[in-house]
Amino acid sequence: MQAIILVGGLGTRLRPITYDVPKALVPIRNKPFLGYTVDLLRDAGIDGMILSLGYMPDPIQSYIAAREDLADFTVDYAVEDHALGTAGGVKNAEGFLRDDGPVVVLNGDVLTGMNLRAALERHRESGAQATIALTSVEDPTAYGLVEVEHDMKVRRFLEKPSPDEITTNLINAGVYVLEREVFDAIPARREVSIEREIFPRLQEEGRLYAHVSSSYWRDIGTPRSYLAASNDVLSGAVGAREGFRYVSVPESTAVGKNAKILPPVAVGEGCEISDLATVGGRVSLGRGCRIGEGAVVEGSILLDGAVVEAGAVVRGSILGPESRVGAGAIVRGLSVLGARSVVGGGNVLDNGLRLNPEVELPPKSINF
Ligand code: GDD
Ligand code: MG
Repeated sequence: MQAIILVGGLGTRLRPITYDVPKALVPIRNKPFLGYTVDLLRDAGIDGMILSLGYMPDPIQSYIAAREDLADFTVDYAVEDHALGTAGGVKNAEGFLRDDGPVVVLNGDVLTGMNLRAALERHRESGAQATIALTSVEDPTAYGLVEVEHDMKVRRFLEKPSPDEITTNLINAGVYVLEREVFDAIPARREVSIEREIFPRLQEEGRLYAHVSSSYWRDIGTPRSYLAASNDVLSGAVGAREGFRYVSVPESTAVGKNAKILPPVAVGEGCEISDLATVGGRVSLGRGCRIGEGAVVEGSILLDGAVVEAGAVVRGSILGPESRVGAGAIVRGLSVLGARSVVGGGNVLDNGLRLNPEVELPPKSINF
């Protein structure tokens, strides 16, 4: 059985990180996100995937090409030259299917411990043309709201409901099982939304069913949820494989005197943590990060080559590749630094401030 993974979106809500790294490859505990999706598929006995690509396909293909452990797992690439939407992306992958059986489809930005076998079983039992996995969330407005009948037939599918349209906490988890007839219903070569066009139509025809999952689930598409997902993986709540450790510090790390490294933490190869620095309490450092003397990094994600200079504080924030936080600066409150950006010394960034790639903030120019 094959799966189609939708990884062609622009990742706009995760900018500026996604200007340089496609959402499918943002690191979580130093593993590109797509790696967790591959694990999920292989654990369910699925033997291949078709990546439905659009935005930044090259790094995604390179990541897969570099993985030597995927010999018994087929990977095909369906690349769009213009965005085809979530159903168009599925249709575009159709030519790579090797048999006429049902297909698993996943949104490529969903971190979950869901049992795909159970969803497939439910799909077979109900005889549906399409089965949507559901999860419950506190606020469905950012998702596809799904009302169901007692027999789990879908009664209504409403993408991005407004607050006054909320009738349930159950939402589309971005995990589907589709029969091949569904592909016939998607027009080729034009932008089509599975949520706004295909599911409402299947629902009207009474051929759309749901399967509720109570497993861990999170869409990593915003800085807040990306950071939360990272924290959850660091704490072992989801995605842990054999040999998981709360403190993962490779031998290649240069650790200064009296530096504190606190769990849960994952440090990439070749990092430097200077004297008296504190790193940890839900921190992941990419490869070659440098943390200066007495600096504090807590509850944050640092991508490869990020630098935090002496005495700076980084809390609950995301630092893009090779970005730099100058001496004594404070970056907190879900701030996000684009690749190679520089926060000059003495600045205070807060309140979800996002600095675009390459931008250099002169010393002492922003305060909260
Ligand atoms: N190939 C391709 N082409 N993929 C696309 C395109 C496209 O034009 N547009 C989006 N995608 C991919 C994205 O990369 C992502 O992995 C997935 O499709 C879903 O797109 P998002 O932009 O992340 O959608 P969302 O999070 O607002 O909403 C979707 O996911 C929710 C669950 O996380 C919807 O399916 C909601 O109904 C659902 O609740
Ligand atoms: Mg999403």
